Amino acid sequence: MCGIIGYSGHRPAVPLLLKGLKSLEYRGYDSAGVAYIQNKAMEVIRAEGKLSQLESKLDSCNVSIALSGIGHTRWATHGLPVEHNAHPHKDNSGHLAMVHNGIIENFQELREELLAKGHTFSSETDTEVLVNLIAEGRKDNGTLLDAFSWALGRVEGSFAVALTDLNEPGVIYAARQSSPLVLGVGVGENFVASDIPAFLAYTRDVVFLEDGEMVRIDANSWAVYNAATREAVDKKVDHITWDVQSAQKGGYKHFMLKEIFEQPRVIADCLTGRVNGSKEIMLPELEGLEPPKRLHIVACGTSFHAGLWGMHLMESWAKIPVSVEIASEFRYRDIIMDPGDAVLAISQSGETADTLAGLRMVKEQGVPVIGLCNVVGSSIARESDRVVYTQAGPEISVASTKAMCSQLTALTILALYWGLQKGTMAGQDVEQVLSGLSSLPQDLEKALPAIHETAKDLAREYSSARSFLYLGRGLYYPLALEGALKLKEISYIHAEGYAAGEMKHGPIALIDPEFPTFAMALNDGLFPKVQSNLVEVKARNGRVIALTHEGLPLEVDTSWVIPELIEPLNSFLALPALQLFAYETADYLGKDVDQPRNLAKSVTVE
Ligand code: AGP
Repeated sequence: MCGIIGYSGHRPAVPLLLKGLKSLEYRGYDSAGVAYIQNKAMEVIRAEGKLSQLESKLDSCNVSIALSGIGHTRWATHGLPVEHNAHPHKDNSGHLAMVHNGIIENFQELREELLAKGHTFSSETDTEVLVNLIAEGRKDNGTLLDAFSWALGRVEGSFAVALTDLNEPGVIYAARQSSPLVLGVGVGENFVASDIPAFLAYTRDVVFLEDGEMVRIDANSWAVYNAATREAVDKKVDHITWDVQSAQKGGYKHFMLKEIFEQPRVIADCLTGRVNGSKEIMLPELEGLEPPKRLHIVACGTSFHAGLWGMHLMESWAKIPVSVEIASEFRYRDIIMDPGDAVLAISQSGETADTLAGLRMVKEQGVPVIGLCNVVGSSIARESDRVVYTQAGPEISVASTKAMCSQLTALTILALYWGLQKGTMAGQDVEQVLSGLSSLPQDLEKALPAIHETAKDLAREYSSARSFLYLGRGLYYPLALEGALKLKEISYIHAEGYAAGEMKHGPIALIDPEFPTFAMALNDGLFPKVQSNLVEVKARNGRVIALTHEGLPLEVDTSWVIPELIEPLNSFLALPALQLFAYETADYLGKDVDQPRNLAKSVTVE
């Protein structure tokens, strides 16, 4: 997820672009850049790192008279977060400059085509391919608008782009497909941006753009076209009443809530370019690597829970023996590694000290390490032998939500990939899972509002609890652990996640009317076992919330029914239920949901 902005008007463009990028930094912040026309030349200034690096670089440039330009703050998906990969990117002629948010799936194929036509590239990005494709298109298409439309028609994937041309100073073109883009309508000035906060200080009049639309703005006019036919499209202007803070949260009260509701998009982004309709999984990151004979998954916190969940799929689909280790324990053990073993280091931030230490320890023994990270170019990503990125975009809330969703998605793909490589998965199982995955984003999108409503009601009913027991079996044991972690870390209510089968080995002594149980009682093979555990809880007057599926026989205080998919995809609807219950409880109790006390987003020390 990146932030883009385009401006044309009566103000000095570069300071305005920087201010706009500042308000978009929550969308990505590993590098940034601006492009503007000055003295009949296309100037592109870029810097690695935070926006402040770009600001100090611009301080030494003589930027005064440009009244239009484009800007970008990056969250790397292709290519490391270094300056030569930062946006804007120019075409070979240097006349065009472009910024882009999204993932172009077929950029390699387009890159080959352009190389064969003599184009050269200075970055590993898909964006540089697109801007050169537009330049190529201009050879056969009359206007830049025509060439832009032609090029966008060749692209598969998601994009929100803004484009400036040396031949048309003061004009900005833009377009969107599956990535957000809004048009800001001012007086003597107009804006395009990924999100409203970028220009809210200058205008509250916005035009919401749809997929398949392209835009042309200059200081005094704006026009929207159908990107395929180039026919003009009538659009209405809305007036925004939000403040900047709530605009950055997309109207959600907290980043955590926004990120929970981003999960359908996160699943789609994690699958992009990796699965297609047929029985094929593409993980070029693992090209040439044999499936491990034994896999050690090493992680902390929520990432550890994701690893515990993924273990089940690695075992049943790929027949790979798996151990899942808490990194802070793993790093101090005398782990016995055998030839053919591999380590999977799971880390959203890619900077967790214990996980990094565990990675370094096994690398000294020559054990191959695969990183499963969200932050491109992070330490764990760089020090792993191979890295698979989860494409969840920046996760701002300290409590991890969409990152875990992306980790489960990636682990599902990885288990399928190795299962297919080893021939240990039946063909119809693969097809069934791939078909389920392709509709999962929509299924989750549809289910979330009702799940949120129930979570809100139950949060109020149970907010006075002093402690909670979370129970689950099989795939739902890691989810029980995660549900307990979410509740305690943001509402400060004590909660314990437990394997349901372990309850009679001690915790049952705690059950009483003041100690409620949240049970994962979904329709998998272990439901009857969970059902009998809940009979034992009820027999001791324990209150029970059971997250379950329609028609399952349960005698509990609340049967929280969610839509049923195929296993293991039911977990993708169960996880947000746990997240939203914790969120609504913490919010109801007035806690600082996005910045809970004592917590850090990335634990970079022991
Ligand atoms: C998640 O809600 C927690 N904030 C925390 O457990 C986190 O998952 C853990 O610190 C691991 O972080 P990582 O994924 O960045 O390595």
